Amino acid sequence: DERLWQRRVRAVQLERHGSISSCEDEAVAALLYGPDPGHGPLRRSIANLLSKFYDSPRCAERICVTGGASQSLAAILEGYTDVRYTRRAWMVCPACHSASQIFIDAGLHGSLRAIPENGEGIDIDYLEESMREYLREQSADDQGHVKMCHAQRKFYSQVIYTVPTFSNPSGKTMSLRCRRKLVQLARQYDALVIADDVYDFLQWNINGKEATDSKGALMPRLVDIDRQLSKEPNSDGFGHAISNGTFSKIVAPGCRTGWVEATKNFITGLSKLGSRVSGGSPSQLSAAFISRLLRSGKLQRHIFQVLQPAYQSRYHIMTLSVRDHLQPLGVEMVQCDVGGISGGYFLWLRLSETLEADRVAEECRVKQNLILGSGTLFNVHGDEDIVNLSHNIRLCFSWEDENLLKEGVRRLAAAIKSLS
Ligand SMILES: Cc1ncc(COP(=O)(O)O)c(C=O)c1O
Repeated sequence: DERLWQRRVRAVQLERHGSISSCEDEAVAALLYGPDPGHGPLRRSIANLLSKFYDSPRCAERICVTGGASQSLAAILEGYTDVRYTRRAWMVCPACHSASQIFIDAGLHGSLRAIPENGEGIDIDYLEESMREYLREQSADDQGHVKMCHAQRKFYSQVIYTVPTFSNPSGKTMSLRCRRKLVQLARQYDALVIADDVYDFLQWNINGKEATDSKGALMPRLVDIDRQLSKEPNSDGFGHAISNGTFSKIVAPGCRTGWVEATKNFITGLSKLGSRVSGGSPSQLSAAFISRLLRSGKLQRHIFQVLQPAYQSRYHIMTLSVRDHLQPLGVEMVQCDVGGISGGYFLWLRLSETLEADRVAEECRVKQNLILGSGTLFNVHGDEDIVNLSHNIRLCFSWEDENLLKEGVRRLAAAIKSLS
């Protein structure tokens, strides 16, 4: 989308008459290898941004700069899991398809299990029962490690992956009750919850036209809940929930820069991965640019004054088009706002029982020149029978211009009609 993109590009440009080289020390730091946990000024700027948005303590030592949420998920699995010891990797399903591949690449394909979503964002009772059952089944001899233990890290026996707010693909947000219960379960079973908190800043009011004053997060993060709960007896201090953030959604995906917020121990362990001690965090140069952008306040203004209203408007156009053109054809829009607030990039639809999403997606691609995500793309590898996604489709409203959104929905309606 040319217009919104141009505004983003302008927002990303450094001070109008300045450049990274206007401050020599900063320019030199940006061009050299950096410290293990990442560019210091960016860690402080991120801590500042997050403390305001989530109303959490400002603490740069809890932040590690990463190469974006995907890179960092791979790094977390590299550092904190072991294929022999980590025998369960639970993914809230439908799951972000790129995350599934990262678990597979980490050798955890045999451990992947799906946890269904429900109206509260996760079927927490199903997870609790499955974790309990797994513990009963687990035999004493199936532990041990393939990797060498590291003095500043640990291996978790179970990992839980979720996008708790404005999920990809479903747009759902996990309730506060489930968030609390999830962290308690993670503590009970010494599991690590990895929360991709990548859409939290992109939120708006679904009622009425005015953009909300959405400068505060809709929900506390799982990492905040873990921090707020009383200290566990005999705790090793690594914690049980981490927040995986990215600038891909609020600056541009090409930055390949993000952050992890976690306990200080966890951050130290993550920053001591071999690939980081050799030169610091990925994206050092990008980190220096983004740090300037945050300190100038331009990025914050861009999020609240440009992105939120633009996506709010696109969301409205697409939801209205779905109501006009798709609901009469038996397509349901899955309700996902919390108290009138919605966000993220996607709408999640359910087709009638007689229509297969794969066929609809193929018809759209071949006959309508329209790309959409068939539900089956978001299955958890190896555990496909738990949730039936063959009648779901994901629509994205964030990228295309407003006129094209309407046109896209019209084409989808034409494809459905031709298959009905
Ligand atoms: C849930 C989720 N996590 C991670 C990513 C990718 O983030 P990054 O570009 O920082 O790797 C996406 C982007 O589509 C996403 O939807």
